[in-house]
Amino acid sequence: MSKIKLSHYKDLPIEMHKVRTVQKLTLLPIDERVKAIEGAGFNSFLLRNKDVFLDMLTDSGTNAMSDLQIAAMMRPDDAYSGSETFYRLEKSVQDFFGTKFFLPTHQGRACENIIAQVYVKPGQITPMNYHFTTTKAHISARGGIVDEIYSEEAININSECNFKGDIDMGKLKALVAKEGVEKISFVRIELGTNLIGGQPISLKNMKEIKKFCVEKGLMVVMDVSLLADNLYFIKTKEKEYQNMEIGAIVREIAKCGDILYFSARKLGCARGGGIAMFEEKYFMHMRDLVPFYEGFITYGGMSTREMEAIAVGLEETLDFEMINQGPEFIAAFGKELQSFGVPIVTPVGGLGCHIDARAFLDHVPSGEYPAASLIAAIYITCGCRGMERGTVSEDRNPDGTDHIASVELVRLALPRRVFTLSQIKFAADRIGWLYKNRKLIGGLEFTEEPKVLRFFVGRLAPKTPWTEKLVKKFKEDFGDSL
Ligand SMILES: Cc1ncc(COP(=O)(O)O)c(C=O)c1O
Repeated sequence: MSKIKLSHYKDLPIEMHKVRTVQKLTLLPIDERVKAIEGAGFNSFLLRNKDVFLDMLTDSGTNAMSDLQIAAMMRPDDAYSGSETFYRLEKSVQDFFGTKFFLPTHQGRACENIIAQVYVKPGQITPMNYHFTTTKAHISARGGIVDEIYSEEAININSECNFKGDIDMGKLKALVAKEGVEKISFVRIELGTNLIGGQPISLKNMKEIKKFCVEKGLMVVMDVSLLADNLYFIKTKEKEYQNMEIGAIVREIAKCGDILYFSARKLGCARGGGIAMFEEKYFMHMRDLVPFYEGFITYGGMSTREMEAIAVGLEETLDFEMINQGPEFIAAFGKELQSFGVPIVTPVGGLGCHIDARAFLDHVPSGEYPAASLIAAIYITCGCRGMERGTVSEDRNPDGTDHIASVELVRLALPRRVFTLSQIKFAADRIGWLYKNRKLIGGLEFTEEPKVLRFFVGRLAPKTPWTEKLVKKFKEDFGDSL
């Protein structure tokens, strides 16, 4: 799509694929949508997918697969150990990253469990550009401390900075000088920082981090789950790499880490995960935990069908027309939302469009979970399911108070190659209407709250009967429209 010029449109995200398999969708009437979100305890994770019109919860395991991936799923070699499927996947990972060793796992957080178990000691600090929910949970479970050393721009909702995911090198150096190398478990780099709006990290910054860590003898662990989008931003925004082949950029990135792990629900557009390494010593440190938690070391809890699909999915990630689809579609969605005045994170990153819930609902206090309220209101208004990426996604402080998130976001994920432009326009239109009527939306409170990762299965309820007012206004304006 990057090479096609039109007479009228600029930045039209033309799909460089065609859709040959479809899944029927339904949009429930608004009264049923209200019942559904009430039944789900105002938590979009607990909605049934049949009650959702556009599922923008996540891209995890929901990206569209290619014809070649589906075809590859027909040729798995099922064996408990030593299957040819494993060797095909291993080779594909090696070719992709340039790494030598590979351990398969059932998904991304399983890699985090193993890495944290092996490398995090109680009281140690893990510096990183930004935490991810499951990463922090695993590090904390081992008694480790997450320290976010992001640059000032990272949590600046509207910024000119193209690489908000960069680590502040000054902060990293100061931390190591203050705490000493022994106190650091490893430095973690997350590509396409999920929780601050899918914001990319520059390759320049990754190289600086690696250079410093080599000097200090620190290990670098890279979470490359969101590599595809980050690659697009490096290729298009980092001048030095504009003419470099995507495969060469991937290998340059990989060289910045000692251990690379990924959720193949994201990278590779299937369902699984894995850890890649250059050196055998890391493989040996972690190897024995794979049969303990995941399955034998030649399948790691994955189905062989998915492994075949991941192998092809990695190869396809080297195609610019594949990696640009997500970010360019997200940019188009962002433009539509902005045309209605909806406050979003800019520059738009990868993964999805991120609405600034604090600005959208400036009358709802942080302790009443504006992002979670807005997710519920969006579902009621248009049947689209987003994900809370704010205070509900943080667990409480040790003293029981809410840990107020630095950014309070509604993430509307766009799984790659799944939605059409008219669906995006529909969502933006309804969210635009909601923005005009935002004062009708109130806050939420927990009615059932797990101690860890509460956002997954916790239940909430409105603090005031605001949903009734919202439905009344919807019916006044849209009549009996779905
Ligand atoms: C950056 C990042 N790391 C790790 C994970 C965990 O991966 P999984 O959901 O496969 O366990 C995710 C999932 O969304 C992620 O976005």
